[in-house]
Amino acid sequence: MSVGLVPTMGALHEGHLSLVRRARAECDRVVVSIFVNPTQFGPTEDYATYPRTLDADLSALEQLGVDAAFSPSAEAMYPPGGITSVHIQGTLGGSLEAVSRPGHLDGVALVVTKLFVAARPDRAYFGAKDAQQCAMVTRLAADLDTGVAVIECPTVRDSDGVALSSRNAYLDAGQRARAGAIPAGLAAAACRFGAGQRAALELLSPVRAALETAGLDIDYVALVEPDGFTDVEIAGPGCKILVAATIGSTRLIDTLRLGVDEAPLVCGAPQQECNGSS
Ligand code: PAF
Repeated sequence: MSVGLVPTMGALHEGHLSLVRRARAECDRVVVSIFVNPTQFGPTEDYATYPRTLDADLSALEQLGVDAAFSPSAEAMYPPGGITSVHIQGTLGGSLEAVSRPGHLDGVALVVTKLFVAARPDRAYFGAKDAQQCAMVTRLAADLDTGVAVIECPTVRDSDGVALSSRNAYLDAGQRARAGAIPAGLAAAACRFGAGQRAALELLSPVRAALETAGLDIDYVALVEPDGFTDVEIAGPGCKILVAATIGSTRLIDTLRLGVDEAPLVCGAPQQECNGSS
């Protein structure tokens, strides 16, 4: 009897539901956790305001034939007096999200470890958009001999190319339009890669340009190899372009897996890069 786990923080959207459908198709039993995990939020981040839509989430999961939904309280998950943490080291634990959001990856590692212990899954499903999280959890599952296969599932995008995220709900209409610069930049990079460009500088420059033109506050734009997340100067298939940028007070991240993901379809985007003239 195989068990599939889909860990979520709720406010479920089509991206989460695609993970649930995949788990449903591949596993005998499907468990979905809904838990806004306090240990992965920094003191100035949006833990208190993170969207919570439990009733709607549960009814969506019921319709997909999920066997169990696990929605513990913070007190049940973290009883007072706990002294155990999970610390991620190496490049994965010391770059990009780990630098921008100190403690975030360790908080994700702790809750995912606890969820693995609680649900004892054979497979656990994560979205590729959170690329560093995926790579970290994959390594954690192996390092701790959990026996859990971590399945990285493709990013689901809206019709304007913007990756689905519960935090998109924070954007007003103008900000939402500007968020389209992220998939537009990634689409330009994908086109350059498709046309044979392999140099990091050339692949990343249209991404940076798109974000700057739209007035986004860039946290990082990086090209990394997929497992250890070290920077690469020459890209190969499977390398990832990672973006983190802020619009107003909303921080968005996105990822393109070169040679794996389709170029995001972007309405009204600078697709002229696709003619291979990079
Ligand atoms: O990706 C998320 O929604 C969260 O980081 C996760 C994996 C559910 C852990 O809280």
